Formats: sequence, C-alpha cells, structure tokens
Amino acid sequence: MAVADSMIRDPLLAPQGLLKIEFAGKRMPVLQSIRTEFESSHPLRGVRIAACLHVTTETANLCRTLIAGGAELSLCASNPLSTKDDVAAAIDRDFGAHVYAMYECDRDTFYQQVQGALSHRPQLIIDDGADLTATIHRERTELLPDIIGGTEVTSTGVMRIRNMAQAGALKYPMLPVNDAETKHLFDNRYGTGQNTIDGILRATNVLLAGSVFVVVGYGWCGRGVAQRARGMGARVVVVEIDPIKALEAVMDGNEVMPIRRAAEIGDIFVTVTGNRDAITLENVERMKSGAIVCNSGHFDVEIDVAGIRQRAVSSQAMRHSMVAYEMPSGKTVVVLAEGRLVGQAAAEAHPAEVMDMTFSTQALLVEYLVRHGRDLGPRVHPIPHEIDDRVARLKLAAFGVELDELSDAQRKYLESWQEGT
Ligand SMILES: NC(=O)c1ccc[n+]([C@@H]2O[C@H](COP(=O)([O-])OP(=O)(O)OC[C@H]3O[C@@H](n4cnc5c(N)ncnc54)[C@H](O)[C@@H]3O)[C@@H](O)[C@H]2O)c1
Repeated sequence: MAVADSMIRDPLLAPQGLLKIEFAGKRMPVLQSIRTEFESSHPLRGVRIAACLHVTTETANLCRTLIAGGAELSLCASNPLSTKDDVAAAIDRDFGAHVYAMYECDRDTFYQQVQGALSHRPQLIIDDGADLTATIHRERTELLPDIIGGTEVTSTGVMRIRNMAQAGALKYPMLPVNDAETKHLFDNRYGTGQNTIDGILRATNVLLAGSVFVVVGYGWCGRGVAQRARGMGARVVVVEIDPIKALEAVMDGNEVMPIRRAAEIGDIFVTVTGNRDAITLENVERMKSGAIVCNSGHFDVEIDVAGIRQRAVSSQAMRHSMVAYEMPSGKTVVVLAEGRLVGQAAAEAHPAEVMDMTFSTQALLVEYLVRHGRDLGPRVHPIPHEIDDRVARLKLAAFGVELDELSDAQRKYLESWQEGT
C-alpha cells in the first residue's frame, strides 16, 4: 500500500503554528545554541530519522534543530490527543519534515501514522513511549539492518526497552534520555507538575485551595504534581507501593494511605505511576459524587476508563476534555481527557523552558549516536555524563547564574583518603 508523504489535519494552519513555534523557540536558548552549531557543522548530514513525539511547539524546535544538522526527518505523534494541528502543519510545510500526526485521531489512524513515519526507512529512532521501537521489532524487522540506534525519552518507554533488552529482544543500541539528570529532575518534576495542574484547571476551572488532591505514584512526576498542588492550597494525599517513596511523601508533608481509603476522601485524583490499574472501577465506586479523575502517566491504562464507561448508566460531555459519568449508585464521576495524559490533551504539555533541557540533551544524544552508534551493542546504554554536564552549564549560563570552581587543594582533598580527624 502506498504511504502518503504526510498526514496532517490542515496545511492552512501552518502560519498560526509557526508563530507559536517561534515564541517557544525564544524560550529555548540552549537548543538554539545547539541549532546554530548544527547549522555550521551539519553533524547529521543525510541521516534519516524517524521521531515519535508529542507534536508541540517544543518538539517543532527540536525538529528544526535536527534538520539544521542535516537530518531527513519523519515525525508521528506519541499520543492521539497531544498533537497541536497548527504546529504539525508548520513542521511539515516550513521545516520540510514528513509529519504524520492529527489531534483526536482514532486508534487505526494513529498506527497508520506510526507506519507513515517508518515508511522513510529510518536509520535513527527518537521515541517517546517506545511505539516506534516496538513496531519495528514486531512488524517491520526488514528495517533493522539500516538502524544505527535510538533514543527513548519517557520513563514508561525506558521501562519497555529495558524489558526488551532483558528478554534479549532488543536489536539496536538505545539511549534512555529519561536517565539524564537534565531530563527527569526537571522535565518530569517541574514540567509534569505544572502541565498536570494546567490541564486540570483548563478542563474544569475548579478551585484547588482546600480540595483533597490525591496523587497516585510519588516518582519524579508525582513529586512535582504534589508539590504544585500543595502550593495552590490543596490538601495532598499520596498513594504509593514503594516504602522509600511513601516515606519521602510523608516527610514532604503529605498524607499517605492506600487507594481504597484515599478513594473515599478525594476531590481530585491524578495517576502518575507508569503502571496499569492504579485506579480501578472498585475504587471509583467508593468515590464521592462529583470526584474528578485524570491521568498524567504515559499510557491510558492507569484508570479503568473502559470499566467506568461500561458500568455507567449515562454520560455527558460537560466541557472540552471532560465527561461526567452517572454510575448505577446515582453518584457521578468526572473523567478528564479520556484517561490520557491530561496536561498534553487538555493543556499544552511541558513549557518550553523545561523542554529546552530535554530536547537539547536529545539533540546531543542523536549526534552521539551518529558518531558512536555503530560501535555500541544492542543494549540500553548509559547517558554520557559530559552531555548532561554541558546542557546544565548552558542552561545556567542562559539564566545568568555563575558556578563556583574547586581549588586545586579542594580537588586533591576530595580525591584523597589520608586526611581525617
Ligand atoms: N505527563 C507528562 O508530561 C509526563 C512526563 C514525564 C513522564 N511521564 C510518565 O509518567 C509516568 C511516571 O513517570 P515517573 O518518571 O514519575 O516514574 P517513576 O518511576 O519515577 O515513578 C512512578 C512511581 O509510581 C509508583 N507506583 C507504581 N505502581 C503504583 C501503584 N499501583 N500505586 C501507587 N504507586 C505506584 C512507583 O513506586 C513509583 O514511585 C510514566 O508513565 C512516564 O512515562 C509523564
């Protein structure tokens, strides 16, 4: 079957998308400096890259950087609800990438778009959730000989590629961007912290102050969401399965309890576990009428939305990204963004300032793979520390923040063991 050159909603939206991309680009100084460097050295000259990412203004700036480096790029969406159609149009029309992404597409179209991105015979993979890598290994193995390697940006995708490597199934080297400190410490915590609250507020306009706000999962993302909800006056309850994270949540000032108890008292629930069934139908049935549930983990498996739909006696779309379900008990549960990433679907994903670090690290890792990928085995490799260090230094410089330096005596002291009491 012939594959189209691109699949976007409307090319006429491109001018509006371009304006937003330019605005985001101005808030991504580190990526801008890498783009300037790529424009003169062309380290990616002629390399075919397929990327699967949330199609946002920040992603557009990454695409532009890779293309400036000489790459030939195809792009598909990593979530059916996260594409900004105007941005997709501008990346396709103005930057010359082949874009396969449309907001609110069905599952079949979503996978056609993944196949569209792969139809350009990529040599390098940029993944967010491991959909490209899983599809290549399952259905498109004829592409494997050309592939130098790939990067994976999110916690859930990193878990999937590590599982593949463990099972001996991974056929090319992967770099887990999420392991970079310039990624998870900032993007997961401050990016997800802000965009989750942003998504909830845009979808509902509820007051957070005084509400009981339940965060299920206290990893990097959960910490950020809880911190921001507390900052807006919510009474935060954390649900965890890991004793260390639960202890941290207690000492950070949260209440910690199992989901079956939290279900009875919460006004707003956010899942960020990267795991399935974090909120089950049984939990939903214990909730107060009018409780709001949403998800900020990568896949839509964290809340049993299918179970809610099946059990409900009626449903009503109340606002954009918000459906209220009436349960047989007479209680109502409000589901945001169909249980998909609420900050991506109901708001605009991470702000540019934080994606500046994630995508700068991403661009430098792509360059690293072009140089060294052929010498790396089919495993998940550690992130080179120099890249993390360089991105952090550039970001600090952009903030106008100066670092101190070790003296020779201090360095010697830190490297010694003889000096003591
Ligand atoms: N919304 C966004 O913009 C965004 C950004 C980055 C990552 N993510 C996604 O968010 C998810 C979480 O990422 P992370 O970096 O915080 O991962 P993480 O591994 O740091 O944290 C996940 C936490 O959930 C806990 N957990 C697992 N199962 C649980 C359960 N059933 N009940 C309660 N707690 C449970 C784990 O113990 C862990 O502490 C992943 O799917 C990731 O891909 C989303």
